[in-house]
Amino acid sequence: MSELNKIALKILEKGRGILAADESNGTMTKRLEGVKILSTPENRLLFRETLFSASGMTKYIGGVILYDETIRQKTSKNRMIPELISEMGSTPGIKVDTGAKVLAGSPNEKITEGLDGLRERLKEYYKLGARFTKWRGVYSISKNYPSKLSIQSNAHALARYSALVQETNMVPIVEPELLMDGEHSSRECFSKTSEVIKKCFEELILHKVDLKGILLKPNMILSGNKSKDKISNEEVAKLTLKCLKNSVPSEVPGIAFLSGGQSEIEATENLDLINKYNDTDFIMSFSYGRALQQSALKYWSKDIHNSEGSQQIFNHRAKMNALAAQGKWSKDLEN
Ligand code: G3H
Repeated sequence: MSELNKIALKILEKGRGILAADESNGTMTKRLEGVKILSTPENRLLFRETLFSASGMTKYIGGVILYDETIRQKTSKNRMIPELISEMGSTPGIKVDTGAKVLAGSPNEKITEGLDGLRERLKEYYKLGARFTKWRGVYSISKNYPSKLSIQSNAHALARYSALVQETNMVPIVEPELLMDGEHSSRECFSKTSEVIKKCFEELILHKVDLKGILLKPNMILSGNKSKDKISNEEVAKLTLKCLKNSVPSEVPGIAFLSGGQSEIEATENLDLINKYNDTDFIMSFSYGRALQQSALKYWSKDIHNSEGSQQIFNHRAKMNALAAQGKWSKDLEN
């Protein structure tokens, strides 16, 4: 077993998943202002340290994706953040793309940037303790989108990124996110997600990326948030499995879904059903941002120096998702 394969499997072992705490300062400012907290480096750190030192980290969270600011910060006990994460039994990771910008040639779409100077940045992140990374390609769905240009160019960037990350002995998370925003049906989400993922693997193979040493972070197959097509959670699970079975090579060790704007319970329930129906060899787990943090953030905002209550809320969500990653969740456990 290669070193990268071992890291990937360790992150998702025994139902554990990933805490995506890699919101850029812009996004984190929106989240904090949403609960009336001033977005300062100190407050961003305080909330994140609250989560990273929660007891649920050890059993349920195998990896934490950090943002550039956070990986360089020190805890209140004067330890580097990646050290704290490792001490909690989890693996530090880092978001390395520099964001999605307007795609020249198709101005309604986005291309993710960050390849220039990436090799040097990766070396520094490795020294800071990171052992895995994330890059997110973002696509919207409508009649003409995502375009061939967006599918091709984002897949190319994801593959070049992955090859560089593996060269630095870290596991790349490949995240092609087809957004939930819009009027599209679940069928459209299914066909476009399949096309995007297939193109990503075509490029990953071309760039000689070791598929056993990556993790895939896809969206689930959902209908658009403004769509009339409402489907059940069972259908979400079945369509998601069908899509991944058809588009992901069997060498890939694990799939960790993004929550993408689903409510906390919805994201847990869908993951649980995916695992109840899972007839593949892929580990199917979570790499949630909002669906792990929302309630904890709301509670924390009432008294930011009292970490206990928000840690309990976070521990509960982490545990529920870890059960869902094994198909062992049920609604009554939420009470
Ligand atoms: O790139 C997206 C994040 O890592 C996952 O965030 O679960 O809130 O969609 P989300």
